[in-house]
Amino acid sequence: MAAKQKTIYCCTECGNETSNWAGKCPACGAWNTLQEVKPGVLPGREASHRAKRAKARLLTELDAGAEIRFSTGISELDRVLGGGAVVGSLVLVGGAPGIGKSTLLLQMCGELDDESKILYVTGEESERQLKLRAQRLGIAKPLVYVLAETDLAAVIAAAEELEPSVLIIDSIQTMSDVDVSSAPGSISQVRECTMKLMRLTKERGITAFVIGHINKEGSIAGPKVLEHMVDCVLYFEGERSTSFRILRAAKNRFGSTNEIGVFEMAEKGLVCVDNPSELLLSGRPENAPGTCVACVIEGSRPILAEIQALVSATNYNAARRSNGIDYNRAAMLLAVLEKRGGLAVSGCDAYINVIGGLMLDEPAADLATVLAIASSFLDRPLGLDLAAIGEVGLSGEIRSVSMLNQRLAEIARLGFRRCVIPFHVRDELRVPQGLEMIPVKNVGEAVAAVLHR
Ligand code: TYD
Ligand code: MG
Repeated sequence: MAAKQKTIYCCTECGNETSNWAGKCPACGAWNTLQEVKPGVLPGREASHRAKRAKARLLTELDAGAEIRFSTGISELDRVLGGGAVVGSLVLVGGAPGIGKSTLLLQMCGELDDESKILYVTGEESERQLKLRAQRLGIAKPLVYVLAETDLAAVIAAAEELEPSVLIIDSIQTMSDVDVSSAPGSISQVRECTMKLMRLTKERGITAFVIGHINKEGSIAGPKVLEHMVDCVLYFEGERSTSFRILRAAKNRFGSTNEIGVFEMAEKGLVCVDNPSELLLSGRPENAPGTCVACVIEGSRPILAEIQALVSATNYNAARRSNGIDYNRAAMLLAVLEKRGGLAVSGCDAYINVIGGLMLDEPAADLATVLAIASSFLDRPLGLDLAAIGEVGLSGEIRSVSMLNQRLAEIARLGFRRCVIPFHVRDELRVPQGLEMIPVKNVGEAVAAVLHR
């Protein structure tokens, strides 16, 4: 006798499953995101009890073949995918509404080679709206088919008939499968639709790009819920107030996930940014205290970013905010600066921000963060020609970082004249011409060297 099927609840934010409903997801802490998943349609779990004959094969006898890649025609997208898209893979492109996901994929339609047959399925916009946008973006490819449809079965039938090499689904939250009773955008729907699309890509060798919205309210299931199912997950990030957009891989079955793609949203769509440092540093305030430039390695590229800090005395409880730097890391750096650098920053409000919406998760940015904070606290500018590289330890020591020479080369290329670096370095130092090195052993020395002159 089959076991009684229990109702489960699934979080639209993180995909966590629980057997009891709660107002707050026990896994990720989001509120009102638990949705009931109907028994009988547990997506992603096909009837495993139906015994199937399967034969295991020897690893040594398997033929790996070579994965076939093709260029999307957009250099930054190719870079994040690990050197182009893999034939037959399913790529999920997630991001907040209005960030530019449809624009990116529509532009890709215009850049793929002329022989590629493309099917663009839009569940959000009408054919006319899509046409207008394509006109604005100047896309005039011969083999781009458009289907305004939300019924998944119809989409799959159309794809099987047309046999496109690239299929774009805009968006997964608008698709609905008649076999699933819940509303489009619910967990059951997005999972079941994604499963079926995965099967389609594998059976037909179609490469699919699937758009998934992220929404904070949790009323629709986000790409996180699908991460484990698909081949590749890219997140499109950036603040809507700035024109910067960063494409980041969260998962890639065919490549590394540390490359980022940088774009600028311009009048005629997204433009690839080959030199992100230049753009990130444009418009730096002159002679202002509280700003310092760091160099982080994103994938294979060194990127310079400006870190700003605002520190001011407060009579109330000290407020701490950090944007672009992990909150705990920032709190630790403030504590080190107080205890080892001798600056009484603990009683102050401290706001830290990385310009351009970049997230710096590398310790190599520590020293620049500390110097930006110190500069704001002392109200003395560091100067526009200074950059800093180094990890800060709990004893206030400045530690060496990897790829120091590449970072220095990028710093020199962008016209900086001075750079604070760790006293002890791992690699043999290659100092670029015209760049003065300021080696420091600890936080106190760093502050003294560049702020107490
Ligand atoms: P869109 O691709 O529709 O976002 P998503 O599919 O992620 O919801 O992007 C919409 C935004 O991009 C919109 O606010 C206008 C802006 N945009 C430009 O600035 N330039 C352009 O050429 C295009 C097409 C859009
Ligand atoms: Mg869109």
